[in-house]
Parts: sequence; C-alpha cells; structure tokens
Amino acid sequence: MSAALHSATHNTITQPIAADMDAVNVVIREQLYSEVPLVNQVAEYIISAGGKRIRPVLVLLMANACGYRGATHHSLAAVIEFIHTATLLHDDVVDESSMRRGKQTANALFGNAASVLVGDFLYSRAFQMMVGVNNARVMQIVADATNVIAEGEVLQLLNMHNPDVNEAAYLQVIRSKTAKLFEAAAQLGALIAGASDADIDAAGEYGRSLGTAFQLIDDVLDYSGNAAEIGKNVGDDLREGKPTLPLIYLMEHGTPQQRDLVRACIENGDEQHFDQILAAITSSGALDYTRQEAEKAARRAADAISALPNSEYKDSLLELSTFAVDRNH
Ligand code: IPE
Ligand code: IPE
Ligand code: MG
Ligand code: MG
Repeated sequence: MSAALHSATHNTITQPIAADMDAVNVVIREQLYSEVPLVNQVAEYIISAGGKRIRPVLVLLMANACGYRGATHHSLAAVIEFIHTATLLHDDVVDESSMRRGKQTANALFGNAASVLVGDFLYSRAFQMMVGVNNARVMQIVADATNVIAEGEVLQLLNMHNPDVNEAAYLQVIRSKTAKLFEAAAQLGALIAGASDADIDAAGEYGRSLGTAFQLIDDVLDYSGNAAEIGKNVGDDLREGKPTLPLIYLMEHGTPQQRDLVRACIENGDEQHFDQILAAITSSGALDYTRQEAEKAARRAADAISALPNSEYKDSLLELSTFAVDRNH
C-alpha cells in the first residue's frame, strides 16, 4: 500500500480528523459495492492501494476549521476521493502508465477497457452519492469541477509533443486537471459548515493554490523522485513528450544545445535521454525554479485562510500547504 497521508510522517496533519477519516473509509467501502464482479475487483484493487487521501483530508479539515458539526462531510469526502480515483483510472490509460500507488496500474493488470469503464462507474457512483446530499450548491461545485478536470486533461492532450507550450499554458492545464478538484474539496468543506460566501471563496483560493503547488511538485518528482517513494514510475512525463515546467524553463534558460535536446524529446517522447535531461534541469535551476513556484503557491494557500479562527484544523491546513511542497511521495 502506498503511503497514506496519515502514515507516521504526517500524522500531525490528520490527527485532529482521525475519527472522521475512519468514517470516510467506511463510506468508501460501502459505496464501492456493485453486483458486477469486475467492477468490485478493479475498484477494490485501486482503492485498497490507498494513496495519500489528501483531497478527503482537505474536505474534512476545511469543514471542521469552519465549525461544522454534522456527518455530511464524510459522504462529500468520499465523493471527492471517488472522482479523484476515476480520473486516475482514466489518466493511467491516457498516459500509458504502468505503476500507481506502488502497484501495477489497473490498465496494466486488467486492460484499458476495464479501467475506463470502472472509472465511469466511480464517476457515476460519486454523482449518485452527491445527489443524495441534496444540496444544489454542492451539486454545482462538484459538477463544475468534474467538467473542468475533463477539459484540463483534453487541453493537456492538445499540448502533448508541443515544445512551444509556455508557462501560462502549462499553468492553465494544471489548474484545470488538478487544482480544480482541490478547490472544490475546500469549498465543499466551507459550504456545508455554513460559511459566508467570502469564506467559501477564501477556502476555494486555499484549495486552488494548494492544488497548484501539489501538481508543480508532482512534475518535479516525475524527474527527481524515487519510484519506491512516489509509487509511480519516474520519467513518465519525458517518455510521453509532456511539456511540464522543468522542461519549459530549461528551453528558455538553457544553452542552445539543451534547448534543441528538450525540443526533440518533447516532439518525439523520449526515454533514452532521461539522465541527460535530469542533469540539465538540475544544473540550470529548472527544478529549483519549479519548486520555488510551488512554494509561492503554497504561501498563497496559507495566506488565503489567514482570517479563519485559530484551531487545530487550521494548523493542519497550514501544515498541509507545507507538505504539498516538501513531500517526496
Ligand atoms: C495523483 O494525485 C494525481 C495528481 C494530481 C498528481 P495524488 O498524488 O494525490 O494520488 P494518490 O491518491 O495519493 O495516489
Ligand atoms: C494527473 O495528472 C491529473 C489527473 C489525474 C486528472 P498526471 O498524469 O500528471 O499525474 P500522474 O503523474 O499520472 O499521477
Ligand atoms: Mg498520469
Ligand atoms: Mg496525465
């Protein structure tokens, strides 16, 4: 099982919501059930691998930080984790990835068809659960987020193998494909707690900035990470010809030779030159730059919740913004 956020190293973040997380896991287990055996098998396979569960943690922390005293946040946290898991099942097919959460991907083990279809099952189960909450603003947030994520993945597909993608275009992709779900998770927590519109907006800004930092670091770890720690293969982005910020920075600030090498790697997708590219993005400061941009985003997240009353939940939200940048998994 890949490292959960509530593992030994980060238990201070999840400690105030430990009981809530147990309740979310019960909801997840209950809602995974289908009469169709392959659905259970594939869904169980990816869900039981764990993952960090950072998005449900965000729903719970924000709800509690805004003073929530009910149980709907458990369902919504599970909704968000199901949507996330559905995007992973689809994403690993699109990216032809072979490792996820420290195990073989579902597409590698069960095939693309099963992954796509069980991803659809998880999406639609999430929508059934969301409708059960019976709150129009909740439905609006979740429906919009799901739509924007899909757009982000398609936008990224259009950017594939294109070395002329600039930093702004890259940021638009990561805000859509990743930050939007973090934004929705944080907004839902604030919304069900009965927070003011201004506080729901602040929560959204926190989530959006946290998610941006999180994806920037994900794109660093795709080069400099350790497969055993991240639970995914390193080098997938280069193999796919994906123009992420470390490469975009290197094309702008590297030597002409480095620029030509990166352009060719993006155009063709490349595995052979991984070591050379890693050396160049390290020595040119491209990885440092990407990390600094992540730090800036994490600071924006922390600033966004400055007006929340002090609580152990707020402390955890602040710690989560640090984790998004310092993480190695
Ligand atoms: C992976 O998200 C997809 C990205 C947005 C980078 P996580 O790193 O949160 O994946 P799990 O749930 O912990 O496996
Ligand atoms: C993940 O994007 C975003 C979504 C799943 C929507 P990536 O393709 O960059 O993430 P990993 O590296 O596969 O987790
Ligand atoms: Mg991927
Ligand atoms: Mg992808």
